[in-house]
Formats: sequence, C-alpha cells, structure tokens
Amino acid sequence: MTRVLSAVAWPYTNGPRHIGHVAGFGVPSDVFSRFMRMAGHDVLMVSGTDEHGTPILVLADNEGVAPRELVDKYNQVIVDDLCGLGLSYDLFTRTTTGNHYSVVQEMFETCRRNGYMVEKTTQTAISPSTGRTLPDRYIEGTCPICKYAEARGDQCDNCGNQLDATELINPRSKINGETPEFTDTQHWFLDLPALAEALAEWLDQREATGLWRPNVIKFSQNILKEIRPRAMTRDIDWGIPVPGWEDQPTKRLYVWFDAVIGYLSASIEWARRLAEKEGTSPDKWREWWNDSETESYYFMGKDNIVFHSQIWPAELLAYNGQGDKGGDPGTFGTLNLPTEVVSSEFLTFGDSQFSTSRGNVIYVGDFLARYGPDALRYYICAAGPETSDAAFTWADFVTRNNSELVAGWGNLVNRTATMVAKSFGEIPAAGPLEEVDEQVLATVRDGFASVGGLIEKHRLRAAVAEAMRVVGEVNKYLTVTEPYKMKDESQRERLATVLHVATQCVSDCNTLLAPFLPHAANKVHAVLGGEGELMPMPRVEQVDELEPGNGAGHTSYSIITGEYSSTPAWESRPVVAGTKIEKPTPVFTKLDPSIIEEELSR
Ligand code: MF3
Ligand code: ZN
Repeated sequence: MTRVLSAVAWPYTNGPRHIGHVAGFGVPSDVFSRFMRMAGHDVLMVSGTDEHGTPILVLADNEGVAPRELVDKYNQVIVDDLCGLGLSYDLFTRTTTGNHYSVVQEMFETCRRNGYMVEKTTQTAISPSTGRTLPDRYIEGTCPICKYAEARGDQCDNCGNQLDATELINPRSKINGETPEFTDTQHWFLDLPALAEALAEWLDQREATGLWRPNVIKFSQNILKEIRPRAMTRDIDWGIPVPGWEDQPTKRLYVWFDAVIGYLSASIEWARRLAEKEGTSPDKWREWWNDSETESYYFMGKDNIVFHSQIWPAELLAYNGQGDKGGDPGTFGTLNLPTEVVSSEFLTFGDSQFSTSRGNVIYVGDFLARYGPDALRYYICAAGPETSDAAFTWADFVTRNNSELVAGWGNLVNRTATMVAKSFGEIPAAGPLEEVDEQVLATVRDGFASVGGLIEKHRLRAAVAEAMRVVGEVNKYLTVTEPYKMKDESQRERLATVLHVATQCVSDCNTLLAPFLPHAANKVHAVLGGEGELMPMPRVEQVDELEPGNGAGHTSYSIITGEYSSTPAWESRPVVAGTKIEKPTPVFTKLDPSIIEEELSR
C-alpha cells in the first residue's frame, strides 16, 4: 500500500464548467483515484473552486454584483455538477475559506522569512476614469518587439514574448479604450532564479522516472531557461490579504500564489473536519505531505502546466528552505514536491475551441441532465485529449455510446442476465469446466493486470479500449457456446455452466469498468443480484466555516466529500450460485441519431 495524493486542478468560479474542463482535470483524476483505491492504496483526493483573481472581479463588475456573490453562485453550480459526474473527492472546498487564508499566509510568511520573497518597485497601470488598477491582461497596445497592434499587456500572441504593460506602444484599456496612466507600486516577488537550480534538479529526477508525459517534462525544463522573479502580489481588492500589508486593502496575494496552495490547505481542512467528526488527529494530513514515500499526482489541462511544474514546486522549495538561500521549513514541516504532473491537452468542439463568449459551449450540467454521467465519462476516457488535442463531435458521441456502451457492454450484461433469469432465476452452479470456459475466465482475469497497468500510467484511452476488448471476448464466448440454443433437458448442466461462467465474466468486467463507469457499475451490480452500492459515490454536504470571521466571511458552505472505504478490491470476486437474478432493465440508453441535429441547433 502506498499513500497517494490526488491533487485535482481547481476550477474558476467565473461560470459553469463546460465538458472541456472536466475532460482535462475531472474525469482522468477520478478514474485514477478510484482505481488506486481499488488497488489498495490510501488515496486522498482534494480540490475546490478557485475564487480569486482578475477575471472574477471583472465579471462581477460587469454583472453588477459583489465578487463574493458571484463566487457563491458559481461555487454551488460547480459543486453540483462535479458531484453529479461522480467525482469522488475526499474534499472539494473553496479558496475563500478561513482555513485556506491561514494556510496561504503561513506559506507566504515562511517563504519570505527564508528569503525567497523580495520586495520591488514596479509600475502599475491605473484607469484614469475609475482610479482603479488596470491589470496587464486588460491593456492592449502595439508590441514593442514585432509591432503587432493587438498585443496584451502580459504577452504578445503574435511573437509569443512575455511583455510588461509599460513596454506597449500606444497602450489602451480593453475595458473602455482609455489610455492608462502608470504609477509606482510595491510588490513581493518570488525569487525564482534562487530556486532554479533546485527546480532543475527536481525535474531531472522526475525525468529519470520516465513517468511524465514527454511533452510535459520538456516544456517544464524549457521554461526554466528564461526564469525570472514573478510578482506574487497584485493591486486588486479581491484576494487574500498580504501579511504585513493588512493596512493596504488594495494589495492582495496573486491568485495563482494562493490557488496552488489549495492542495495543501484542502488536505488540512479535510483532516480538521475528520478530527471533529471522528476524533482522528487533525495532523492526519501530514501523512500525505511530510512522508517522502507518499506519491502525489496533479491533474490539469495543459494551460496549467507552468503553475504546477514551476510555481508550485518553487513555493514548496522556498517553504522547505531548499533553494540557493537555504532556510528552514515553517510549521507545516518539509513538504513533498509533486511526483507527477499529469496534464492533458484540450478537448475542442469540432474544429474550434470551446468558447463561452462565442456561445460555442456544452455545459456539464446540461450534458448530465440529458445523457447522464457515465455516457460523458466514457466518451472522455475513450476519446479524450490525453496526449494530443481531441475534437468532440455529437456524431462521435452518439456512435460511441450506441456501438460501444450499448451494443458492446450493455448488451453483454443484458443478454447474460436475461438468460440467467429466464432459465434459472438465480446464478446457477457450474458443472465441470471445458477449455473454452477456462479460456474466457483467464482472459477476463488477465484484464486486471492489463487494464490496471494502463490506468496507473494515466493511459485511459488504451485502458478503456483494453477493457472493451475483454468485453468483446466474453460476447464472443456467448456466440461460440450458444447457450440460447440449449433448450433440451440433456443440455441443462452445460447451460448452467456456461451461464455461470458468463455471469462471472460479467461481474469481473464490471469491476474492470468500474473506475470509468461507477454509476453503471452500481446498476450492473444490482442486475447481478448484488446488494447496496458497489462503487461509493460522493455527496454534497453543507458545513460550517472552521474559522468564522476569517476568509471571505462564509458562515457555512457546500463541500463535496464521501466515504470510500467500502471500495471493492481490484480483483475477481467469485459470483455466488443461488443469488437471485431477475429480468433486467437496460443499463445504458441508446441514443437516437436525431439528437445530433437537435444539439447542433441549440
Ligand atoms: N483555476 C485554474 C483554471 O481553471 C486552475 C487552478 S489549479 C490550482 O485554469 F491548483 F492552482 F488551483
Ligand atoms: Zn510581438
């Protein structure tokens, strides 16, 4: 048994999440976590909503609501959607809690005490009409390097160079077109160059494991070459107060500084809540953070790589005192760096990006309401953007649903249970096994090693294909043995054997598919006469704020949590002769191709 931290990227509360988002961080992390629990590991899976930052402030301004109101609204939507998708978080919380604020401030102060936060004077843009700071990405102008006329204050999309808004020629506000004014401002910068050597060493070690996807490790090593200090504070009035600058409410910590710390703060919140409920140690989180044997896997879309392979490890090294300037860890002790950054590419919508602003989007909530969670989970696992961008099309979705889920797996479950119900009303005992029986049982048993090995390496497309290949072999077994033709009394014993073997195979295939299709697994489990839930499900719970008065001032909020200790083992479980089986209702729903047109015309 290993302890495993499943660290899942935190969705922004600036709108409902679309299926591209959950294809990147959501489904892959859940399949992995569910599998690792089944394989006997002690998994802690944490995440939450990412609620600070400029985009949220700008959206709140546009909608004429306070940022707090906006994030409350979308936090609730996102919690419901992710729970509906069956994502089995131990804790899904928020970045506006008192606990998170405290943990982030401790991280900041220790990084500063160790010498890795340096104060610098820079220039900031002010909107003359509002007097408020104008963030770099809301300033547009001509690129000083390539002369592209629509470069952003933080970056030129034409030549790719990182820019400072002060360098733009003819700068203007993207919000109202006015020319910004620039004034001096103080900020705390994370001294990344002082951490570069330690980062390089860590990345080299990671590369040597051969675990990381090659493009992720290459990209991470590449961006080390141009490393420079980065501001960890902002001129903004929505965010976590900067320790020492509490008297300057218009200065807050940078959203990415605080968001990545969420993995740690959520682990701490989880331990605090468990301690209150079950009397365990509030320090239980340390098993996942201070024990160097613990493995940690971070799940995200590719636009998040730099924050997880550079900024977060740099924060951890600075906290631990492991950069050029030395230092000592704070009260959290020496914290583990990521074992693996598991990044996926983008799910596109046909040949363009999902885009909320262009109305070119499929929301998770809508998808769940129309097609249920496992149809989406299946699609993402089988055809998701694992190592290259992948295009979602409704036609492809319908085909995969109908020909793979319904005609492949659903049909096997259905015909097996129907024959058992009709011929015996219960799982029959097997007589002597023939070679064909032994063979199919072995094929299915071998699936545990092959499918499990692929999930462990985050190769979900191959893993699901392998599981479906095994399903296909069992379907073939029924075709070859033809139990539906065994009508004669003299064939009764052979019929019993074949149906026993088939039921065993269905049960095992259900286990193999359970990490991908946990809701369906529970239905198949019931079809086979099982009691209760095979795969535990997450639930939404309303909890009290642990540090009232701290954070954004919640008194209570919704979390996703669950009790997953009853997760079945990743192995074949013998079916029990005599278990009652009734005529089943289909587990999956065939989709009419007319939904393609219907969806496209929405
Ligand atoms: N909110 C970010 C996004 O949606 C992801 C943050 S991941 C975190 O791209 F760990 F840093 F929180
Ligand atoms: Zn340029």
